[in-house]
Amino acid sequence: MELDHIGIAVNSLEEAKVFYEALGWKSMPSEVVESEKVKVGFLNLENNCALELLESTSNDGPIAKFIEKRGTGIHHICLRVKNIQETLKQLKEKNIQLLNSEPKLGAHNCLVAFIHPKSTGGVLIELSQPQGDV
Ligand code: CO
Repeated sequence: MELDHIGIAVNSLEEAKVFYEALGWKSMPSEVVESEKVKVGFLNLENNCALELLESTSNDGPIAKFIEKRGTGIHHICLRVKNIQETLKQLKEKNIQLLNSEPKLGAHNCLVAFIHPKSTGGVLIELSQPQGDV
């Protein structure tokens, strides 16, 4: 298991990018993830890890609600797994509370599922299994 990315809730992708680009990062083209009602922009680090900037595309989406409650900032961390079905099965057996009991399609064509912060000490954790480039 590896750290895949850290998700950061922002009001505006365009405005948030300015800071990271000032650090010398090249941002990738943004992508809309319909299932999460977000527009995401990834900033790749050199060690195969990334930052994921998340801008809500809807007032009632999870990122809009998060910002309303807690403001902008770190939203989740994402762990890359080899077999997400197997990982979810193991977690269910250990009574870990999941937000998604089945994987769904996330950014970059990955299969993703979230673990409930109640089971992780308050951190929203995303699991992600890459499926190759599309
Ligand atoms: Co993410």
